[in-house]
Amino acid sequence: RTLWLIVPAAGQGRRMGADRPKQYLTLGEQPILAHTLARLYQAFPEAVLVLCLDSDDAWFQPEWVPFARWQRVSGGEERMDSVLNALVAIAAQEDDIVMVHDVARPCITPDDLHTLYQAACRHPSGALLAMPVADTMKRASAECHSMRTEPRDGLWHALTPQGFRYALLLEALQSARCHQRLVTDEASAVEALGEQPLLVSGRRDNLKVTHPDDLALASAILVAQLDPLT
Ligand code: CTP
Ligand code: MG
Repeated sequence: RTLWLIVPAAGQGRRMGADRPKQYLTLGEQPILAHTLARLYQAFPEAVLVLCLDSDDAWFQPEWVPFARWQRVSGGEERMDSVLNALVAIAAQEDDIVMVHDVARPCITPDDLHTLYQAACRHPSGALLAMPVADTMKRASAECHSMRTEPRDGLWHALTPQGFRYALLLEALQSARCHQRLVTDEASAVEALGEQPLLVSGRRDNLKVTHPDDLALASAILVAQLDPLT
């Protein structure tokens, strides 16, 4: 059974506000994109990589791709369109596992990748890395006044990767597009079919680089992960 790794990397990084899409900003020696692909390769050297890139992308360099088998597809308007383009482009079997991982999460560890892959293979509804919410949650008014405290029990942050059988994820994203439902992760498209993907508790340092101050955090995390004693 082939494992397909879909990496949406066609975003513009507007919240980062840099001179280039955030996946091309460097952490240490390498751009974020190269860090992310290296981590994926470390865990799954035999997998097929499908990289969603903006068709106008002038920053990408193929030397950052360590995989022997990989293909490039055009990104779409939204993240879900980029992922759907990838699913449509690949010659996958119905029962193949597809794992989708944000290029903006370079601190993913091989352990978490393997755990999620095992869960995705075992659970027919698929699985996603996630993290129980730690802070107290407030419901805000339009004027940012705290109206009440929401119960935190059972609330999780959704992370990536998220893994599903190919046929299920394709159906879920096609259905979301068909009903013009904008989904920000794969699991929400799958949930809309009545499925219940498994939440797999992941590391808390699987940060999505989003804002400028995330760069220093991500650098520190990458360094700390190389030296597990710190
Ligand atoms: N992404 C994509 N295609 C899009 C939009 C986003 O492939 N049309 C990817 C991004 O490259 C990123 C992931 O989806 O890996 C998560 O998106 P996000 O963190 O929101 O990144 P950006 O959209 O680039 O950032 P922003 O929303 O701040 O512009
Ligand atoms: Mg975005």
